[in-house]
Amino acid sequence: MNNKKFAKKLIMWYSVHKRELPWRNTADPYKIWLSEIILQQTRVAQGLPYYNKFVKHFEKIGDLAAASEQEILRLWQGLGYYSRARNLHKCAKIVAENLQGNFPFGYKNLLKLPGVGKYTAAAIASFAYKEPVAVIDGNVYRVLSRIFGIDDDISSGIGQRKFEKVANELISEEQPDVYNQAIMEFGATHCTPKSPACGDCIFNMECYARIHGQQKELPVKLGK
Ligand code: ADE
Repeated sequence: MNNKKFAKKLIMWYSVHKRELPWRNTADPYKIWLSEIILQQTRVAQGLPYYNKFVKHFEKIGDLAAASEQEILRLWQGLGYYSRARNLHKCAKIVAENLQGNFPFGYKNLLKLPGVGKYTAAAIASFAYKEPVAVIDGNVYRVLSRIFGIDDDISSGIGQRKFEKVANELISEEQPDVYNQAIMEFGATHCTPKSPACGDCIFNMECYARIHGQQKELPVKLGK
């Protein structure tokens, strides 16, 4: 299966099976950033009401920057990992006060913001600016390792670089935003950790893990 075919099939699957989620109907970097910070270490069902609450309270990034840390922490209550909320405030202040309320353009510049790592920078760059930078999260490791039979350790630097390379070769240049949403959705709802729906899978004929019965062995994660 060549790269173009993989992206095309994945995007086709997504157009039929995607969940309607509010942050998928916007190209506003503020809302995309907010949703991705909330969704770090958090399930969609848990994060959704918080996203709606924050968007309602703080329509623009300037509103969030102007709020007190206490108010932000109060609204964050129950989500856990409170350093995320503190970084959220820090980042909002930088964008609102130093960058006239505009998120920086480009993956490399986004990476400089507090609380914004590779995953979040790639998400903002692709969803808001259509930059072809692949998002890599647990879903992406699982999908790529299984379909292409990549057995490098995802907890090692070497393994992570290998996946980064493969992921960035596969991403659709025409629709990087849709492609990134699609691969995460495929991993989250179809190619799941414990019970992937292999019997009803568009990659049934090509998937290395299905052909070799290695769904449980892939991805390989040796360290903690
Ligand atoms: N989890 C993290 N980011 C997500 C997104 N954009 N859509 C659905 N689930 C996600």
